[in-house]
Amino acid sequence: MTRSNAQMDIGPPIYCSIMPKQEDYLLSEYWKKRWEKNDISWQRHEVHKFLVKYIDKLTDGRAKTRVFVPLCGKSLDMLWLADQGHDVVGVEISLLAIHSFFEENGLTFLKKQVKLAALIDPVDVYECVEKQITIFCCNVFSLSEEDTGGRFDAIWDRASLSAIQPAFGERGKRYTKKMRSLLADDGNYLLESHFYEVERNNEPPASLSMEFRNQLYEEDFVLKELEVEKSDEDFERKWGYSQELHYHLIKPKAK
Ligand SMILES: C[S@@+](CC[C@H](N)C(=O)[O-])C[C@H]1O[C@@H](n2cnc3c(N)ncnc32)[C@H](O)[C@@H]1O
Repeated sequence: MTRSNAQMDIGPPIYCSIMPKQEDYLLSEYWKKRWEKNDISWQRHEVHKFLVKYIDKLTDGRAKTRVFVPLCGKSLDMLWLADQGHDVVGVEISLLAIHSFFEENGLTFLKKQVKLAALIDPVDVYECVEKQITIFCCNVFSLSEEDTGGRFDAIWDRASLSAIQPAFGERGKRYTKKMRSLLADDGNYLLESHFYEVERNNEPPASLSMEFRNQLYEEDFVLKELEVEKSDEDFERKWGYSQELHYHLIKPKAK
């Protein structure tokens, strides 16, 4: 029996334009433009089923944790996490994404200007009035534990590592180092990564081979693959290649 993409929740490739390898600044501009054009095909309309499935692994069963959602967009996962009783902190480069998040979910915010340790100019930080959600409007690489009030208990990374072109220079490694610096020593990190059997011209979501994934994470973390979801025959027929979604539980290495 073949399953439809809708049932599998994988769907077609979520990006389509040819994308050159980008420096940090240009990459940020690329994402902002996607929001301006409402070209946000990655956006999900329900809470991610793997987050729901593995929430206890993410939180170690604790009722109230501090969860970091890097490159959060306007993900509904933030709402769900807050509704479960957790304190949620997101970071997002696009102002438009943050405004849409509050507006579309009928939420209000207090906007503060905050000076980050790594930057001269202050950035806007949005604090939700109704729920425990705070969103920093800045580049994830600018954020440090000094700015976030300490390290997090948990990180939920859906389409985030895969959005920063991790194969460009040392960016993948800089990203995993940044995640390590923001995660408590006993924290948990859930990662969704993609694997494509074809070359896709640097298009996000980036394809992550097992070797590259290990290269990025193994120095600072221990990884356990929880699950792999493969695309079905219909998908392969339509797009001419297969894709896989890999779900990992990642823990900091003991020092
Ligand atoms: C593929 S989307 C994923 C959004 C979200 N995680 C989700 O599951 O819906 C990537 C998001 O990261 C944002 N972004 C890209 N680069 C960023 C950076 N360096 N710092 C902060 N946000 C960034 C983009 O604007 C976009 O909203």
